[in-house]
Amino acid sequence: MRKKVVAGNWKCNTSVQEGVELAKAVNELVAKEGAEDVVVVLGTPFTHITSVVDAVDTNRVGVSAQNCAAEASGAYTGEVSAAMVKSTGAEYVILGHSERREYYGETSDILNKKVALTLENGLTPIYCCGEALDIREAGTQKAYVINQLEETIFNLSAEDFKKLIIAYEPIWAIGTGKTATTEQAQEMHKDIRDAIAAKYSQEVADEISILYGGSAKPSNAPELFANPDVDGGLIGGASLKAEDFLGIINAY
Ligand code: PGA
Repeated sequence: MRKKVVAGNWKCNTSVQEGVELAKAVNELVAKEGAEDVVVVLGTPFTHITSVVDAVDTNRVGVSAQNCAAEASGAYTGEVSAAMVKSTGAEYVILGHSERREYYGETSDILNKKVALTLENGLTPIYCCGEALDIREAGTQKAYVINQLEETIFNLSAEDFKKLIIAYEPIWAIGTGKTATTEQAQEMHKDIRDAIAAKYSQEVADEISILYGGSAKPSNAPELFANPDVDGGLIGGASLKAEDFLGIINAY
């Protein structure tokens, strides 16, 4: 059975102190009221990871970086390696978020290096894919998203591929208040799962958690998560409020 996952992506928000308070609040709510069969992850800025790992019960609330370096170590000023992330006690790395692809020029070549280093260091990549509005309007979103997968994670062995979490995030729905309809989400999630089955096997496809991201909130999460191929969410804005985040965790 594939896992249900709700992962927060705090992006470039909160001071360390605010982040620790938020993490503690989530930790407490999840311990008391969180659906037990949902894997909960907090994607924090690099500066917060160690403090957040210390502030939560990591057996219940996992911690994620939002990026890592494309090189293992060395003279790369300002970069944070996958090994460094691992040494904090974090277990996940969000990779290929559309904001990183768009604003920081992350190409498939760069992402291939990051995915490989993340896996080498025993971390779980939360690999993001998704199309912009012009592609959706042209009706070519399926080909676009499958091509993103083909250029990156479809290069992995089946054994490594099974370690991934995938997040489908239509760019036009991120931070815009516009959510994909439940049909649009299910359709793309199924297309992704079918492509995985064709590339690897149905067994591999059935094991991979595919999360939806883009203006998910407690009010629309139940409908989104009711889809057979939607296995949870990657949550931006609503992950910055512990109560809202809990509402999404409990949306199944
Ligand atoms: P949002 O962000 O929930 O604020 O739309 C989702 C994401 O970018 O991961």
